[in-house]
Amino acid sequence: MSRSPATVLLAVGGGIAAYKSAVICSRLVQQQYEVRVVMTRSAEQFVGSATFAALSGQPVGTESAPTDRYPTGAHIELAKDLDLMVVAPATANLIGKFANGIADDLASTIYLQRSCPVLLAPAMSASMWSKSAVQRNCKQLEEDGCDFVGPEEGWLSCRATGAGRMSEPDSIVERVFALLR
Ligand SMILES: Cc1cc2nc3c(=O)[nH]c(=O)nc-3n(C[C@H](O)[C@H](O)[C@H](O)COP(=O)(O)O)c2cc1C
Repeated sequence: MSRSPATVLLAVGGGIAAYKSAVICSRLVQQQYEVRVVMTRSAEQFVGSATFAALSGQPVGTESAPTDRYPTGAHIELAKDLDLMVVAPATANLIGKFANGIADDLASTIYLQRSCPVLLAPAMSASMWSKSAVQRNCKQLEEDGCDFVGPEEGWLSCRATGAGRMSEPDSIVERVFALLR
């Protein structure tokens, strides 16, 4: 059986931009990538997991607890043989947890478990993005070896313009291709 060109884990955080991550998933699948999707509990309030399950052709991971499919825990099985972990949208909460080694859900536990590179696409309001705590956490993640794409300046869902808009799916996918090349 031939292996896909790459295996990407797409972690979807709980922000309005979660709907754009469906496009990222689809674009990567169209390139024959294996895409494993993990959604935070908060992300499920923004987009249904059925969308990502259909697009990726795989069940969506939401919990770490052992199941028949993942007897040793989803964080172990899903983190195996990854070429890249993409976090989009990367919420302030996920960024904070990653930067501080907190592993209290599936996405943050996979972040600690994996050994592949990580690409983060932050998305939040301009006020959140400007906070020193968020900037400090991003700096820490850069020092830890993570890559970032965006955020951009532009229209935000809080009906304001500023920095914090998630990069467009095509830009994120281009960065994925560049990192995997
Ligand atoms: C309508 C709405 C939009 C939100 N958008 C964002 C966002 O774009 N970025 C962000 O960091 N948090 C956003 N939040 C807050 C997160 O949903 C909240 O911090 C949540 O705990 C994040 O969980 P997660 O990081 O596990 O996905 C939003 C909340 C609501 C109710």
